Amino acid sequence: VNEILPPASDTLARLPLAEKVGLLSGDGPWHTRAVESMGLPAAELSDGPHGLRTETGIDMVWLPSTGFPTGSALGSSWDPDLARRVGRAIGEEARALGVQAVLGPGINMKRTPLCGRNFEYFSEDPALAAGLATAWVDGIQSTGVAACLKHFAANNQETHRTEISVEIDETTLRELYLEAFRRVITAASPWLVMCSYNRIGGVHASQHPWLLTTVLREEWGFDGVVVSDWDAVHDPVAAVRAGLDLEMPGTEGRSAAALLAAIESGTLDEETVDRAAGRVVRFVRRVLPEGRQADGPAVRAAGAGRGVPLSDAQLVDIDAAAHHQLAREAATASAVLLRNQRRSLPLDPDASQRIAVIGGYATTPRIQGGGSSGVAPTRVDQPLAAIRAIAGPDRVAYAQGYPTGWTNYYQEAEPVRDDAAALRSEAVRTAAAADVLIVFAGLRIADESEASDRHSLDLPADQVRLLVDLAALGKPMVVVLAAGSPVVLDPAWHDASAAVLLTHLGGQGAGTATAALLFGLANPSGRLAETWPVRLADTPGIETFPGSDGRVHYGEGIQIGYRWYDARGVDVAYPFGHGLSYTSFEYDSLVADASDDALEVGVRVSNTGARPGAEVLQLYVTPPPPPSPRRPRSLAGFAKAELAPGESRVVQVRVPLRDLSHWASDRGWLLTGGDWRVEAAASSRDTRVAASVHLGERGFGRDHREGSGPS
Ligand code: BGC
Repeated sequence: VNEILPPASDTLARLPLAEKVGLLSGDGPWHTRAVESMGLPAAELSDGPHGLRTETGIDMVWLPSTGFPTGSALGSSWDPDLARRVGRAIGEEARALGVQAVLGPGINMKRTPLCGRNFEYFSEDPALAAGLATAWVDGIQSTGVAACLKHFAANNQETHRTEISVEIDETTLRELYLEAFRRVITAASPWLVMCSYNRIGGVHASQHPWLLTTVLREEWGFDGVVVSDWDAVHDPVAAVRAGLDLEMPGTEGRSAAALLAAIESGTLDEETVDRAAGRVVRFVRRVLPEGRQADGPAVRAAGAGRGVPLSDAQLVDIDAAAHHQLAREAATASAVLLRNQRRSLPLDPDASQRIAVIGGYATTPRIQGGGSSGVAPTRVDQPLAAIRAIAGPDRVAYAQGYPTGWTNYYQEAEPVRDDAAALRSEAVRTAAAADVLIVFAGLRIADESEASDRHSLDLPADQVRLLVDLAALGKPMVVVLAAGSPVVLDPAWHDASAAVLLTHLGGQGAGTATAALLFGLANPSGRLAETWPVRLADTPGIETFPGSDGRVHYGEGIQIGYRWYDARGVDVAYPFGHGLSYTSFEYDSLVADASDDALEVGVRVSNTGARPGAEVLQLYVTPPPPPSPRRPRSLAGFAKAELAPGESRVVQVRVPLRDLSHWASDRGWLLTGGDWRVEAAASSRDTRVAASVHLGERGFGRDHREGSGPS
């Protein structure tokens, strides 16, 4: 892409200094600054990342767009091709609405399940997060719309998010918290990176020269624009000096004046400003090449708002039906079947059993989390209606069961009631008259939202009471959980349940996807992208979260997620990578070879059951034994394979050797030589076949980039 762009410097050189510094902060909340004399239009940035949150400019009303599953859901699909298609669809909608950049994906690691924004992030593991984000970025940027990788870096909690200082050692930072960013940047070249609110070692990310220049540009070769998180800049001069290009939102000239004064007093180089301004100009030309319309077409002017369905005429520029179908497909591929006792699922669509659907989320589903990633969906599939469409309306009764409160950024289908005790006894009566129960439970939007963290992993108490009362009826009980992050599964209801299906925050198609999965019209193929702990006290980081005196010490080092539980031999409710299917898979014949720059692994996977289904092959590697420097056993790669009943195929996974190396400080990145253990597994705790492979020691220096070869 670089080659076809006109160099920004020619035109910039003629620009008065006052206009150049003006380019380094936005124009209002969502636009870059236009420069008339250069013929440079303003580019519009919009949230993301699960659909577009584009304001009409009137009363904070949002334009409808397709609401896709949130990050933690899409992460559980383990399907880069799906992530690519979702990214592409969001890019197409952005083009139709005249938006040039989407603020996502979010790829922060999940240090603790208490982070209120975990529903926006893919995983607790960098290999999984990077695999999906790389494809998502490729997908959206293939439409000419910029992705914005966020939040760079170590943004792992919402408590005191603008001030908290992350105290972390360099090895942990590089091997874990920066690693997904490195992989996506070197493989997919996102055009924007958003720096985070927090401080690292006392310095705000927006003003951190090591982070924004040494690592991001000099080591990884990032050639795009670094944009601040909204209001994350405290000192515009320090920020530009550190490597920030674009402060958002605009500051009505205050930052430009500060930059101008700093140049005049000699505390800021004009060259530094030129470089940043040049990058902003290049970004705008990338997303708005000559001739492309900056203003959104008619659909925007029409200004349909939150929850108001679009008319056909308004939808003309977006293939809303196709995107809704993709949202359904993504929700289906993301759902994780956690438990299925005595093959209780799938339910038989043609049986005569009476079904009780219990729970307000069956009529007003939780499909997204709270905060900047909210979307006004083009439509919402209702789980109850989808179940009735499959099972027939007459044998499906419904009761709300618990108060749901405000559910989502869309209009609720029916008025909700909030008298917990009355709702519960009514639901128990409805359930008592049925043969099988489908209970929709989950977190409230207030439990997982930007700008605050969770205080516990519990489901709302009203729902737990209801689940326990329903379990006491002794009927087959299928629980459908809507939650963007793990919840504690109280044995009082969980151990009595027949099945548990996790639908996460599954986006606008989740209702149909859920019904299709329950009745076997689709086969579950999602796998957990994060560990589900037994209790909060077991979780990593819990001793230091959320920090004190403005600091949070990452004392657990690299051991977050499954690494933490594995290092301590702690039981978990469901391990990372877990997910059941209605068919069964077998693994054999693992062959591992080291080529010049990669570990190549092939494993034969067979569908030994009676239904078509998809298996997620997970590759875990363990470096040679101590005293060699070790990274813990961790996920190195994965592949999702669709297999017909009886079908058998060799599934290939390729892992660049650079991705297996560890940070050896002065020596840069180093691959430990010796015998590595390679495991093909169905979850982090379910290894099926293993082998050992010899890898020679290799150094990769500090600034290895994809394709540049070892230094
Ligand atoms: C969030 C970002 C978001 C931005 C713009 C910030 O508060 O942290 O993720 O993109 O607002 O809405």
